[in-house]
Amino acid sequence: MASISAVKGMNDILPKDVWRWHHIERVFQDVAATYGFREVRTPIVEPTQLFLRSIGEATDIVEKEMYSFVDKGDDALTIRPEGTASAVRAYIEHSVHADEPISKWYYLGPMFRRERPARGRYRQFYQAGVEVFGDAGPFVDAEVIALAVRILEKLGIQDIEVLLNSLGTGDTKARYREKLLTYLTPFSESLSPDSKRRLGTNPLRVLDSKIEKDREICQNAPRLHDVLTDEDRAHFDSVKNVLTRLGIRFREDANLVRGLDYYSRTLFEIQGRGGELGAQNALCGGGRYDGLMRELGGQDLPSIGFAMGLERLLLAMGESKEPQSMDVALVVEPGNAESDLRLDAAAFADSLRALGLRVESDLRGQSLKSQFRRADRIGAAFVVLFAGNEWKSGRVKVKDLAAHAEQEFELSLVPQHLLEKIAGKK
Ligand code: HAM
Repeated sequence: MASISAVKGMNDILPKDVWRWHHIERVFQDVAATYGFREVRTPIVEPTQLFLRSIGEATDIVEKEMYSFVDKGDDALTIRPEGTASAVRAYIEHSVHADEPISKWYYLGPMFRRERPARGRYRQFYQAGVEVFGDAGPFVDAEVIALAVRILEKLGIQDIEVLLNSLGTGDTKARYREKLLTYLTPFSESLSPDSKRRLGTNPLRVLDSKIEKDREICQNAPRLHDVLTDEDRAHFDSVKNVLTRLGIRFREDANLVRGLDYYSRTLFEIQGRGGELGAQNALCGGGRYDGLMRELGGQDLPSIGFAMGLERLLLAMGESKEPQSMDVALVVEPGNAESDLRLDAAAFADSLRALGLRVESDLRGQSLKSQFRRADRIGAAFVVLFAGNEWKSGRVKVKDLAAHAEQEFELSLVPQHLLEKIAGKK
């Protein structure tokens, strides 16, 4: 019978690789906690309306990429393409603002977009994101960007560039949209098909087209920064000042728009260049979305956040060796399957685990050679050898595999010895 493969663009993460994911998740959680962020978990499936009203109907995500379906109860549902909309929905639904004026949330989990799969671009991918509700900035804008940079630094991702822009408030954005439309409309026949289409729906997106001809046309387009109000400008200047004071390097990019409609004012993207990253080099994207809460039926509360793609972080980090995964492998002289030797070894393994040690025991009666090979393969730090002769006098050998050292002990003294040695190695 033909075998079944995973859905295109959706990947298995096998146990041999999961440690990398745990590492990233732990670093993200630890650094986010130092900034006062707490985890939120929201459903993976949401009403389709949520994304139409937040991400925007004229975006690539909503137009082409959402996994939407009507369930058996005739509800229109979507498997989430991102986490911000859900976080805002949950914040409103649980009236969180009544309990705390400022909330700092983070989330980790899979997102789904039906994009064309490529290195660093998948249909199921994992995001680690943060959202802050109730603070209009500019200090928090810089703090959120700093948090993203510190996480990347902690992961050893050095070769990054922070791109920064300001879109102004919703009103500014609307005024700019009109200006841009007036400028671009005469060029509409020369624009790429995608940009031509966007002209009618979301002209700001034409600005971040990657097509050479579109870029040329955009070079003389009116600049958003020219229509920023004094307040928008003062906010943006303050964000830049604080970032400079925090030692965060950035580059202003007036064409940075990003593909979601809800943004206003501060917008940023962190790109990576190292490791095995290819064209999909956006490691992290985020910004302010001060109008979204009201748009989704909540209070008029300012908000800002970002999300980073875990697969891309892994690519940027490159290869590294799995840290020691097992503490102890028991190696037991083969012989009678139900011998007291094997029973003692099973009980001993159990007692070590109760002390918190990671212990593998192969009690199938394999040859000593194959058991030692396995100990090596699983990365055990120590081997405890149960061999008939020593065992009869209540003794076992303990081998430190890295140090190539071996010592014989009375069995009852081994747990303490291992605990001390292993604590010393960590
Ligand atoms: P986004 O730019 O769509 O923003 O996604 C954020 C990050 O998720 C990207 O920079 C990238 O690392 C990763 N990512 C996106 N799509 C894919 C994909 N198909 N495959 C692999 N990785 C991908 C958002 O999602 C916003 N919700 C971020 C945000 C939070 N803004 C404010 N708060």
